[in-house]
Amino acid sequence: MSKVNKIAVLTSGGDAPGMNPCIRAVVRTGIYFGLQVVGVKQGYQGLINNNMYDMNERSVSNILHLGGTILKTARCMEFKEESGLEKAYKNLKNRDVDGLIVIGGDGTFTGAERFSRIYDIPVIGIPGTIDNDLYGSDFTLGFDTATNTVVEALDKIRDTADAHDRLFFIEVMGRDSGCIALRAGIAGGAEAILLPEKETAIEELIENLKSGSNKKTSSIVIVAEGDKNGGAYDIAKKVKEHVPSYDVKVTILGHLQRGGSPSSFDRVLGSRLGYAAVRALINGETRKMVGLKGNTIQLAELDEAISHHEFKLEQDLLDMVDILSI
Ligand code: F6P
Repeated sequence: MSKVNKIAVLTSGGDAPGMNPCIRAVVRTGIYFGLQVVGVKQGYQGLINNNMYDMNERSVSNILHLGGTILKTARCMEFKEESGLEKAYKNLKNRDVDGLIVIGGDGTFTGAERFSRIYDIPVIGIPGTIDNDLYGSDFTLGFDTATNTVVEALDKIRDTADAHDRLFFIEVMGRDSGCIALRAGIAGGAEAILLPEKETAIEELIENLKSGSNKKTSSIVIVAEGDKNGGAYDIAKKVKEHVPSYDVKVTILGHLQRGGSPSSFDRVLGSRLGYAAVRALINGETRKMVGLKGNTIQLAELDEAISHHEFKLEQDLLDMVDILSI
């Protein structure tokens, strides 16, 4: 039987589409199983500042389709300090919270892992980041929506690239991960995809653009923001120096990739993960992340999820980039 009576839920780090469906699932699953649910505003900052409120099933009505997070989010430096952790613990204890669910990325999990090693409150993590850079889950919340947003942008840029016979360098988010770049590049028909996980041979890119028996008049190159050669502007400049005949343009997609209504995939994933996280707390689990492996929800150790030991890019997608762009 569950020893948990009252749980708190928060979103932390960069927001990701799908967080709201996930919050909804946590709140309604918790209430269904007889738990009280507390919403924490602004992530760990809200724990420290005691910015929390009691939620009921109607607190999460009409939010499934919304991007962002109704709980708001923050990147909280104070939670890295012992004094911050202690304040958070006292505030949770004063409210009789005996279980915590955190939705976020690796920074969020690092904080959660540390907190739950020091204090006696079980913690379950839910992978919520557009970067898809957590291990133990094939997909993170928000990645699918963000990738769709990039593909939509690519389609539009392709129209104008074609009309003017231009070469576009499009920079996409992902921090140190090339997941968005790779998927969006395949789906959007990119000429080349520059990824942090792969050594980029600029010379090779230049050769490909220069030669080619059937030279293209317009092209799109995706640059992941973490690529080691610098940002899209640096790369575009180098390419222009070597292939002056190209009319080169750069677009940085930036934070628009973080917004928007979650895709059906992210809504379902958020619902599954929120439900599973509550069940995990009820089952007495702690320091675990709920994730999607294949098509089943599985638990992974929180510290495994942030250890970055696994190469997450699909090899078959990598192999086909050059082939599909001949
Ligand atoms: O982690 C999500 C993410 O959007 C990364 O892709 C990006 O590098 C970073 O957050 C941007 O952070 P901020 O919104 O704090 O500028």
